[in-house]
Amino acid sequence: LAAALAPLTVAYLVGALPFGYLVGRFRGVNLFQAGSGNIGATNAGRVLGRKYGAIVFVLDLLKGAAPVAVAVRLAEALAPGASDAIGGPDVVRVGAAALAFLGHLFPVYLGFRGGKGVATGAGTVFVLVPLAATLAITTWVVVLFASRFVSLASLTAGTVLVLAHLVASRAPFAEPVLPVTLYLIAGTAMVFVKHRANAKRLLAGSENAIGDFPMRQP
Ligand code: G3P
Repeated sequence: LAAALAPLTVAYLVGALPFGYLVGRFRGVNLFQAGSGNIGATNAGRVLGRKYGAIVFVLDLLKGAAPVAVAVRLAEALAPGASDAIGGPDVVRVGAAALAFLGHLFPVYLGFRGGKGVATGAGTVFVLVPLAATLAITTWVVVLFASRFVSLASLTAGTVLVLAHLVASRAPFAEPVLPVTLYLIAGTAMVFVKHRANAKRLLAGSENAIGDFPMRQP
């Protein structure tokens, strides 16, 4: 069991690495106290400049993708047959995805104050469901260019991700797809919860468009 749980622990500890916060500190800025107060790529780009936003986006994406990509191999390297101890390779992969994602949202290194989960979640779904993820990121780019709101692009992409997965899987609520389905639905729901202030601003017409800095509203 310990061998099966090791990849999940590693996934959490890697997902919790607060790259946005660290890059901010490296530039002498506390992102919790600047711009939207979020430690994600959007706020890093807004406050530190687009180059740093891109760096944070790539690092946050990789810390989601890498644990999912190596989870099964890590479990099997520690003890052959370990994945089966907690439900098989699919469950280990989804477990690693969920823990990397939760690590970003609630990082132990920062008193559990984390980001909104979009880049890290995207990294996990690129490995888990590459086709649905590609459709979602395409949606993200189109909505971002059309609206200039990162938050609207993120919320639309999360919705498209879930719908694409439900349509593409023949039986999304049957084994072995069920764990992925539950992760995508719960993860997207958490992204919505984390974006509730953004959603309120979108509805009120006061959300900050990309490039709005100083911001219209924190
Ligand atoms: O993923 C975060 C993005 O959708 C919004 O970020 O800083 O504008 O709240 P921010």
